[in-house]
Amino acid sequence: MLYANFYTWAYALILLILLKAEANFVDITYVESAIPKGAVCLDGSPPAYHLSAGFGSGVNNWLVHLEGGGWCNNITTCLARKNTHLGSSRQMAKQLAFSGILSNTQTFNPGGCSFHLEEVLGSDFYNWNKVKVRYCDGSSFTGDVERVDPATNLHYRGARVWLAVMEELLARGMSKAENALLSGCSAGGLASILHCDSFRDLLPASAKVKCLSDAGYFINVKDISGAEHIKAFYNDVVTTHGSAKNLPLCTSMIEPGMASICFFPQYMAQEIETPLFILNAAYDSWQIKNILVPTVADRHGTWHDCKLDIKLCSSAQLQIMQEFRLEFLNAVNGLGTPSSRGLFINSCYAHCQSEMQETWLLPNSPMLDKIPIAEAVGDWFYNRSAFQKIDCPYPCDSTCYNISLQDNSEA
Ligand SMILES: *[C@@H]1O[C@H](CO)[C@@H](O)[C@H](O)[C@H]1NC(C)=O
Ligand SMILES: *[C@@H]1O[C@H](CO)[C@@H](O)[C@H](O)[C@H]1NC(C)=O
Ligand SMILES: *[C@@H]1O[C@H](CO)[C@@H](O)[C@H](O)[C@H]1NC(C)=O
Repeated sequence: MLYANFYTWAYALILLILLKAEANFVDITYVESAIPKGAVCLDGSPPAYHLSAGFGSGVNNWLVHLEGGGWCNNITTCLARKNTHLGSSRQMAKQLAFSGILSNTQTFNPGGCSFHLEEVLGSDFYNWNKVKVRYCDGSSFTGDVERVDPATNLHYRGARVWLAVMEELLARGMSKAENALLSGCSAGGLASILHCDSFRDLLPASAKVKCLSDAGYFINVKDISGAEHIKAFYNDVVTTHGSAKNLPLCTSMIEPGMASICFFPQYMAQEIETPLFILNAAYDSWQIKNILVPTVADRHGTWHDCKLDIKLCSSAQLQIMQEFRLEFLNAVNGLGTPSSRGLFINSCYAHCQSEMQETWLLPNSPMLDKIPIAEAVGDWFYNRSAFQKIDCPYPCDSTCYNISLQDNSEA
């Protein structure tokens, strides 16, 4: 058993090195046609995406993956990101490596080996057209404010960016899609819920269209000081970006202070009619660090080590995180579980599990009931089997991919 375990790990490591070696670098495309529509990044630059063309049986299948990166909630924080890659396409890397759900490698079989990795590594989406839409609006692609203050030159136009990019992709062949999946991680995972039905409506009625939210299920919960920190923050986001008119639950005027209800999946996701898969760690590390224990609620830094590595949490801190998990599960269960919904809620301390090969699909990647994430999502997409599973509480899951997290706060 020990040997088997060692070999699985060694094999996974070799595979990973080889996969990295043949990583697929994909060039950026700027959507110049978006500029006359006023569909621009915070700084007024054109939006952008990376497209890896589909091949073989995947030529009419489209995976559209929305990049994450938190939100800006007022002039100060929007100005702070305006001249970064999260606010300007001028600052974006011109190439991105596509891995995990975006990987174009079907199998990797070095031969002469007794493991049957071709069964493990075949992601259903490898030969699809794969798009990573860059995130530069700070509102999960929901903002639309006409006025641009000349003093700041800030553009709040996320919803227009969404439409302009979709129009370009439709023109590049997505209008003929037979299968399509809208996915995204973090703020992009939230956007993939918010835009799920509008994505569906853009595509042919005959197409199979579904949505995958990875680490996008942000919950409305008080922080450890008892303050409604995330609720206030989301109220500011929705107000600053003029998002309400573009949110499924909030198309009419809503009371000030209530805008955030249109942003929290627990209140709006049941309105989504298109099949939706929710992939999230119950101890989402971004949510622990920024919703449960934001810096303002931990002035003495008592949680510093625990936030970096769950293994360093005290038993009192772990108890609070167990309560967070229960609130998270309540928020998910409140939606009900129609058969069209997919659910992969594991007990890892993680944030975004579809973009890295290590968490998406390798012999040692996270599993629920021995099923890795890529297989669960593929089975659900193709109706091979339903997948609605919730893990037992920490630390029961031995399949988590444990990294000591960097102290960054991007969502
Ligand atoms: C903007 O939001 C940040 C983060 O929530 C906050 O610290 C800051 O005080 C806000 N600034 C203004 C001008 O409201
Ligand atoms: C596949 O599942 C979806 C719900 O996820 C359902 O609407 C559809 O009818 C199913 N299709 C087939 C062919 O069973
Ligand atoms: C990750 O950490 C969990 C909890 O401490 C542990 O049970 C698991 O074995 C670790 N996973 C790996 C792959 O080391």
